[in-house]
Amino acid sequence: MRRLEGKVALVTAAAQGIGKATAERFAREGARVIATDINTELLGGLAGCETRRLDVTSDDAVKAIAAEIGDIDILFNCAGFVHSGTILDCEPDAWAFSFDLNVTAMYRTIRAFLPGMLKKGGLDRQHGLGRIERERRAESVRLWCLQGRSDRPDEVGRGGFRGARYPLQRDLSRHD
Ligand SMILES: NC(=O)c1ccc[n+]([C@@H]2O[C@H](COP(=O)([O-])OP(=O)(O)OC[C@H]3O[C@@H](n4cnc5c(N)ncnc54)[C@H](O)[C@@H]3O)[C@@H](O)[C@H]2O)c1
Repeated sequence: MRRLEGKVALVTAAAQGIGKATAERFAREGARVIATDINTELLGGLAGCETRRLDVTSDDAVKAIAAEIGDIDILFNCAGFVHSGTILDCEPDAWAFSFDLNVTAMYRTIRAFLPGMLKKGGLDRQHGLGRIERERRAESVRLWCLQGRSDRPDEVGRGGFRGARYPLQRDLSRHD
């Protein structure tokens, strides 16, 4: 079944792993998929997707791709990074980088794409690794933010960054 026929989806960090699997699945479900990543070499291997270079830590790049592709139905915020080590292993630059990629990047993409998504008919938030979609909501607009769930002591920041995304989630609930 092609449950995303006629939908436009943007996936970040789509060159490999979860982002790649998601982008290709969205395409198999009939969506026009814009698969983005900083690794353009690996992006070339994606089946059924349009590809673009996108560094989600760049305000200008996010604004530029939003202007280029226009309104979308699905935003899959996959880009993220978990620093390995405790707080004592995590230098200030690494902390700042992690916060930017794990939290602020989602703010950037949501801010850039949310107006168009709302125009297209509302928002159906799905946080975490959700199933492709529940049938009964097949026509709604979707926004997914991938989050780490571990509170492992050797992965400083993962739990905290998850908490830091709550304000974004709360704000989005106003648009339901
Ligand atoms: N793998 C897991 O078990 C797991 C579990 C829960 C959550 N996550 C989260 O899911 C996401 C993807 O995980 P994965 O294991 O598939 O990742 P991965 O390491 O396989 O791939 C990460 C991708 O992100 C891209 N990337 C890095 N910096 C970027 C940037 N600034 N802009 C755009 N793209 C960038 C890389 O080029 C790479 O293609 C991450 O946010 C991760 O924290 C992973």
